Amino acid sequence: MPENRNYKQALTYSIFNNISQAAGELNLESYVIGGFVRDFLLDRGKAKDIDVVAVGSGIALAKKVSKLLPHKPKVQTFKNFGTAMLRADNLEVEFVGARKESYSEDSRNPVVENGSLQDDQNRRDFTINALAISLNPENYGDLIDPFNGVKDLEDKIIKTPLDPDITYSDDPLRMLRAIRFATQLNFTIEKESLDSIAKNKERIQIISRERIVDELNKILLSAKPSVGFALLHQTGLLHLIMPQLTDLEGIEEIEGQKHKDNFWHTLEVVDNIAQYTDDLWLRWAALLHDIGKAPTKKFHKKIGWTFHGHEFVGAKMVYKLFKQLRLPLNDKMKYVQKLVLMSSRPIVIADEKVTDSAVRRLVFDAGDDIDDLMTLCEADITTKNPNRFKKYHNNFKKVRKKIREVEEKDHIRNFQPPVSGEEIMETFNLQPSKEIGIIKDAIKEAILEGEIPNEYTAAKKYMLKKGISLGLVPEPKNG
Ligand code: CTP
Repeated sequence: MPENRNYKQALTYSIFNNISQAAGELNLESYVIGGFVRDFLLDRGKAKDIDVVAVGSGIALAKKVSKLLPHKPKVQTFKNFGTAMLRADNLEVEFVGARKESYSEDSRNPVVENGSLQDDQNRRDFTINALAISLNPENYGDLIDPFNGVKDLEDKIIKTPLDPDITYSDDPLRMLRAIRFATQLNFTIEKESLDSIAKNKERIQIISRERIVDELNKILLSAKPSVGFALLHQTGLLHLIMPQLTDLEGIEEIEGQKHKDNFWHTLEVVDNIAQYTDDLWLRWAALLHDIGKAPTKKFHKKIGWTFHGHEFVGAKMVYKLFKQLRLPLNDKMKYVQKLVLMSSRPIVIADEKVTDSAVRRLVFDAGDDIDDLMTLCEADITTKNPNRFKKYHNNFKKVRKKIREVEEKDHIRNFQPPVSGEEIMETFNLQPSKEIGIIKDAIKEAILEGEIPNEYTAAKKYMLKKGISLGLVPEPKNG
């Protein structure tokens, strides 16, 4: 492989000329490095995040570049890290001075020491991320690839430039990054590297949960998340990050009765759902839908294995897990909880006769999340028996059809009481009291049961009947 391959064609953004000029004026070398070069060579398109390394001060280079740009963008500096960032034309450009040493043993605080380009490449995470393209006039566009990163791109290998124990110890987040890149790019982690991750797994504890979750989200959002979760499991990282998930692993057998392995089943469900949605939170719901099965598992002589109430327990665990991982405790968490809590509801309906009233109740409880809930339930079908596979899918098709029919007729999805509390108060000349709630609830129940349609006239008539049965007397004008 020739050393001096030239990739001028990667450098079409005009900012590269500005950087080159600024570096020339400061009399220092500059290179574009990392993800931008990797993604260009992988034909993943041109990234909008650009990392530039300067052999000298990255901050000084950023400031000079800003001066050359028509809009003189603000330069954000991070003195502790010796880095600076500016935005121009939709691009986010990060400047860093080439460094020799990286991180101290016991923390993520970098020990900054100036170095050459090669020093800087040495201390990057992977060979495929250490590729640099020169921005210097004498060899503009030349690829500098000291670790054969291009070959690793071709062979689809994740490998560290130095001894993996050093690279991962420098920044343990890289263990997750290795797994994330393997998942996103469909690459293999070199054996030595994988062994080193397993060996150094405990070091993940010094990484902030926000950064861990960032990587988990990227794994979940990839085309086949199970690749990443299987690697996390294999290396022992998953047990440290989310023991609730690994607790689902295993098949127990008592008196010849087995249950399925809920960990591997869950990974299949996540892969299935990834084919239908890019919504991160629906994917989280798939990952956690059976989380309550470990603590609720029981064996009964007559009926075999049960997981009674696992949906309820699971929903509670969602809150704890989100809190523990510093995931947002907002409407996203509530959405995941709701889907976990309701995850068996459509199954129960499909198993029995699909009645209108059961479907109306399901839609009432799920509201606008009904479609997501159905998607989750369909992804949950992982049986390898083709007959059963077909049967379950057909049952859910029936449920979906019924949902559409009921919705057209009764508009339950965003249910609004057809008769307001105020009207009930006026009709029976009531002050705020519990009777109002009772009547409202009775109307809702009658609609869900299909006794009356979801419309004003029928509901008003029903209200009068219900009020009278409670001993209330309608005002003459209403009577
Ligand atoms: N890097 C590193 N160690 C880390 C993080 C980053 O060595 N823990 C280096 C790598 O050379 C990487 C570059 O910094 O390519 C930029 O990092 P980042 O922007 O986080 O990742 P990208 O590689 O650009 O990829 P992505 O945008 O997909 O995260």
